Amino acid sequence: MPKPETLKLFHGTSSKNLADINKHGLRAGRYKSGEDGIWLTDKREIAEKFSEISTDEKGGDPVLFEVEVKKANLTPDFIMYKMPEYEDMDKVGCDLGDLEKSSKCWQRKIRAGKVPYPKNDKDWIPSLEAVHSVISIKPIPKTKIKQLK
Ligand SMILES: NC(=O)c1ccc[n+]([C@@H]2O[C@H](COP(=O)([O-])OP(=O)(O)OC[C@H]3O[C@@H](n4cnc5c(N)ncnc54)[C@H](O)[C@@H]3O)[C@@H](O)[C@H]2O)c1
Repeated sequence: MPKPETLKLFHGTSSKNLADINKHGLRAGRYKSGEDGIWLTDKREIAEKFSEISTDEKGGDPVLFEVEVKKANLTPDFIMYKMPEYEDMDKVGCDLGDLEKSSKCWQRKIRAGKVPYPKNDKDWIPSLEAVHSVISIKPIPKTKIKQLK
């Protein structure tokens, strides 16, 4: 059987962006980060956290989407490897008592090959496994977006 070409992931944002998203879909590269991409996660809680950050910055209410993306459009989130969630550091055995120490431990684990790490910019699966975040480098049309909250 052929492997599915798409994947369902979550994206959190602010209701301030809703009108534009409902009209144009999720668009890459026009907004704050300066990078071309739409950040996506397989963990609902992570998308919820970033929807709250977005509302803290922009106002509005937290909004959560489930989106269907083409796997071919995904790239790893190397930024998230620099500031992973505590849980992900904990999972590879880094003590969480001290942020500086745990970050150093996390970097050591990456160098030692103990953290799934992408081999190139098409190798997005390790990024989802290790830091639960990937980037779609192409816009996501509104027909592929379902609002959950
Ligand atoms: N948002 C998430 O669910 C999510 C998932 C994984 C990781 N992250 C992390 O959060 C950081 C910031 O991510 P971000 O998602 O806030 O991206 P960002 O800081 O680049 O901001 C872009 C904003 O533009 C919004 N947007 C996209 N299309 C739009 C449109 N058509 N009209 C109006 N607004 C539109 C996005 O929803 C997002 O809020 C990333 O560096 C990443 O580490 C976020």
